[in-house]
Amino acid sequence: MSTPISDVLIIGGGVAGLTLALEVADHRSVTLVRPAQDDQGASRWAQGGIAAVLSPDDDLDAHINDTLVAGDGLCDIEAVRFTVTHGPAAIQWLIDKGVPFTPEHDPAARYPYHLTREGGHNARRIIHADDATGRAVVDTLVDKVAQHPNITQRNDLTVVGLLQDPQGACRGAYGSDTNQQWHSLTARHTVLATGGASGLYRHTTTPAPSSGEGMMMAAELGARLMNLEFQQFHPTCLFDPEGPAFLISEAVRGEGGHLLNEAGERFMLALDKRAELAPRDVVARAIDAEIQRNSLGHVWLDIRHLGGKSIRHHFPTILAHCACRGIDITQQAIPVVPAAHYSCGGVATNLHGATNVANLYAIGETACTGLHGANRMASNSLLECLVFARSCAQALLADVAQQGQTTSGSEFQPPVQAAAAVLPKAVLRGIRQQMRTTMSQHVSIVRSATGLSTALAHLKSLLNSVEEIQGALTAPEGKRLHQTLQLAILTVLAAQHRHESRGLHYSTDWPSRQPEAVASSLAMKDLTDALATNR
Ligand code: SIN
Repeated sequence: MSTPISDVLIIGGGVAGLTLALEVADHRSVTLVRPAQDDQGASRWAQGGIAAVLSPDDDLDAHINDTLVAGDGLCDIEAVRFTVTHGPAAIQWLIDKGVPFTPEHDPAARYPYHLTREGGHNARRIIHADDATGRAVVDTLVDKVAQHPNITQRNDLTVVGLLQDPQGACRGAYGSDTNQQWHSLTARHTVLATGGASGLYRHTTTPAPSSGEGMMMAAELGARLMNLEFQQFHPTCLFDPEGPAFLISEAVRGEGGHLLNEAGERFMLALDKRAELAPRDVVARAIDAEIQRNSLGHVWLDIRHLGGKSIRHHFPTILAHCACRGIDITQQAIPVVPAAHYSCGGVATNLHGATNVANLYAIGETACTGLHGANRMASNSLLECLVFARSCAQALLADVAQQGQTTSGSEFQPPVQAAAAVLPKAVLRGIRQQMRTTMSQHVSIVRSATGLSTALAHLKSLLNSVEEIQGALTAPEGKRLHQTLQLAILTVLAAQHRHESRGLHYSTDWPSRQPEAVASSLAMKDLTDALATNR
């Protein structure tokens, strides 16, 4: 068993993890744990772009205000101001790193890169690399990380838990390799950049999203989890029952795409003055209602009126994918459905990514900084990844108090030492599928008290089933499934506690908003208490 020691251990290799690694590596030794397959993680699949005030015609207050409106009263104003204010510098950092953003060809334009629009934004402020922004950013940063001598990459480990000293501080993480052997990775500072929890649901916008494992690792150490009930469903995922998950970027609506119902009518016009560019919670709920009424199982997104030349120019990735699936989007409307896309909740952090556990940080979708409130505005997520990774880096570099103190690897061994048991894979897969079906049926776009109670009972019994499998909790797949079920239960509890409808949480029993907006906050004890009831 190896016990390497680094200054900073980063778990997760999306935009947040890569940015942090590059920002600290000139001064600190970094271990970066990334999945072996590069297509995992949500960052790479982000199409639309990154929101920031870049055009001289835009202004910071306008971006702040749009974010607050989309967040439906629950944003933390300090987090919003902080993110928006640091946005332009974060974009410049990416430009300096060589990200190939799409240039603006209009000679009258006042900014050299093309800026698109998306839901909730009252200005053109989304910088992008065609319609594959996440891929362009990740590829650029991965190259830089690979060249940095101070960054050790580990893609052979599945991290399943964090190491803690007797004082409660985080001292690194542990995980198992492909031979089921355990390793501890000790570090002065540990940063979770493990993604969100969309994998709790059956239909998602990325093929292999995380399921909140990192959030539960933090909770196991005593971190608080905020706003878990606010799971975002992207309004337009390609309806393709036989094919892989595929997002149809909000930029398609930003450039003028129309949502049509079964009768071919633009149903958003009657519902919201912002029509197709209303915030995502509004559009996803409207599509969900149309789907309940129609016999198609989807609605249509039509961009034919933009013309073939413009479609090919703006959306080459979407055009090519749809063509592979037999849809010519220059000639046909695109069948779309909402799908789980982004977790607005997560590990509660301050403006530097610090959690309430000493030496433990969370950034990117794993964290809940207060930026998104009850509903994230389009393209604010990559922005948050960048801004908070950079501010977290500043905090880590400023923390000289612990410099010189070595963390002895041998003091912090994984709680389990024996080779992990080989578990019945089909049984685990079946439990995971049942969890996803339950979450999609009862804890998605529209919720009810009865549905949430049904979900809670079912999830508890699935958790029991995992615990009854011999060796499950000391094997990586079993432990991760257990964490996922625990997070699903906490998500239901958060939804049950919210006696109102706000942003992404809509309840048929509590259709109005409470006058005061209050963030939710849960910890491991809430889970233990809930499990002690009727178990
Ligand atoms: C999209 O392109 O619609 C996704 C971007 C985002 O979720 O912010």
